[in-house]
Amino acid sequence: MNKVIFIIGVSGSGKSTIGQLLADNLNSPFFDGDDFHPENNIKKMANGQPLNDDDRQDWLETLNELAKQQLANNSCVIVCSALKQKYRDILNRDIESKTKWVHLSGTFNQISKRLQSREGHFMPSELLKSQFDILESPKEAIQIDISLTPENIVKSIKHELMNTSEFGLFGLGVMGKSLCRNLANNGFKISMFNRHVEGTEEDIAKNFKAQYPELSQAEAFDDISAFVKSLQQPRCIMLMVNAGKTIDYVIEDLLPHLSVNDIIIDGGNSNYKKTKERNAYLKTKGIHFIGTGVSGGEEGALKGPSVMPSGDKDTYKKIAPFLEKISAKDKNNLPCCTYVGPEGSGHFIKMVHNGVEYVEMQLLAEVATILEALGQNPDEIANTLETWKNAANSYLLEITTAIFRKKEGKDWLVHKILDKAENKGTGNWTTIASAELGVPSTLIASALFSRYISFYKEERVELNKNLKKENVSELNLTSNEILEAYQFARIISHYQGFKLISEASNTFLWHLNLSEIARIWTNGCIIRSTLIEELVEVFKHTTNILTSPKLIERVNQYIPSAKKVVSEGVLNDITTPALGEALQFFYGITTQYASANIIQAQRDYFGAHTYQRLKDDSEKSYHTNWN
Ligand code: 6PG
Repeated sequence: MNKVIFIIGVSGSGKSTIGQLLADNLNSPFFDGDDFHPENNIKKMANGQPLNDDDRQDWLETLNELAKQQLANNSCVIVCSALKQKYRDILNRDIESKTKWVHLSGTFNQISKRLQSREGHFMPSELLKSQFDILESPKEAIQIDISLTPENIVKSIKHELMNTSEFGLFGLGVMGKSLCRNLANNGFKISMFNRHVEGTEEDIAKNFKAQYPELSQAEAFDDISAFVKSLQQPRCIMLMVNAGKTIDYVIEDLLPHLSVNDIIIDGGNSNYKKTKERNAYLKTKGIHFIGTGVSGGEEGALKGPSVMPSGDKDTYKKIAPFLEKISAKDKNNLPCCTYVGPEGSGHFIKMVHNGVEYVEMQLLAEVATILEALGQNPDEIANTLETWKNAANSYLLEITTAIFRKKEGKDWLVHKILDKAENKGTGNWTTIASAELGVPSTLIASALFSRYISFYKEERVELNKNLKKENVSELNLTSNEILEAYQFARIISHYQGFKLISEASNTFLWHLNLSEIARIWTNGCIIRSTLIEELVEVFKHTTNILTSPKLIERVNQYIPSAKKVVSEGVLNDITTPALGEALQFFYGITTQYASANIIQAQRDYFGAHTYQRLKDDSEKSYHTNWN
């Protein structure tokens, strides 16, 4: 990655000498900031007048422009006193993640002596003193002791810049490994860490590095201190470890080795509330924290996942070049990675993504069951799903089609898989979050509970004996009707998922951009689909997809099929909880006068909980003596 190296320090710290030497060494262009002063400044300085902040403004902006121009082609070295943070902010503008700061630091006496010994150079000691007074030591700079020889100074700067990694990846499970290869394939110099556990996890990082040629420049560690030391400061360390307590243990293990302003990125499926807590905790230690959803499984992580980072925006800017480079690209070639919002909003939307993923998977399982009941074998089911691609393509539809084609021996593999669906907890959290926020994500709950029901295998077999009446009428459905019911339920599911995001955004004041969220889900992630692509545009005009004229038209078109498929399913003892729930939810959300009046009356009857009346805008509460 091209970089601008700013060498800063008070007069006499040796900036120009070191800058020039370093630039020669790196084979990069060298610029002395003093050569870029506007005429007015030159005149002022010639008259011995000090420059004020206004005088410096244009000059610093010119240097910022110069840095940007250089970055387009290569790295460069720029020297400039840049004693105050606000000066450095101007130099840094829009290129934060591509600048490196080197502070040549020495004591007042050291520099004063040095200046006195310089031939033909005179600087009153008050002027030097005033420079020390205004110097705000840059926290993020590589600090170099000027008592070293120039050669050794250049050596140590080079060591910091070149011989250390730009990015650290902690935890080499399936996703961690794929992300390492992705980062390396994109030209980043990385360090990789995996713990050492005698007998079970030995030399994981070393062996992994040896396995892939793209990792030849990567460094492999099983010692935390050496891993952290190998990283350029401020360090960027991405954790790819199991969500939950492990994240906290890892953070505690890392903390003693970190420096102020280092950045930890949690790329696991962490709970969004925990992400907020960790963010606040690490702030007290001076460490920045970004929680990011990463979707796409092993292959996505390797070739380009969808990335959903949240936390402090300035911190995001520093890691954006890495995350945006390794992420999938949308159809306009923009990264499927965007700053989502503050706190744990990135992990929140990843959680909802997974909830929608559960529903998409469940719906495909249900339609396949119906197709099977119509007499189709797995190959025929795959053929039917294949024909749906034009109308309803998605990654999950594609993989499900492939799954139905897979044979093992003479039989299809799906016939041999135990019918108990597991989960790692994100669907559970989505359901809990929905309940907590008062949002009816009924399809996610339904898909989750279907997995739970599947787990009662032994009980299901037992109860089937006594309770299931095989009272089957003739199943009368076309493939197109099933497709339309499926499409209908998917629209309702996406409505619910985005509703949950939108309500969370309002409650937590996250100001999330639904269109951008849909956009970063158009590629790389598990729920990418043509429907999500459509939603990018829809969310530019509304936060409620059921108000989009195009979607209203489609929903109206699909309702008859949805009704028919669900009722035929009921009549034929086919369990279709998600398809059925989509219809029930649709009835609920479109009902003008709901049965909730009866619930209110019941509550008032037994608990004097009161109720409000129709045609009474006063919001007055009524209680009736029902006896
Ligand atoms: C993704 C997936 C990924 C993982 C799920 C599996 O977006 O890449 O969602 O995060 O496959 O966590 O979840 P369950 O084990 O709960 O099905």
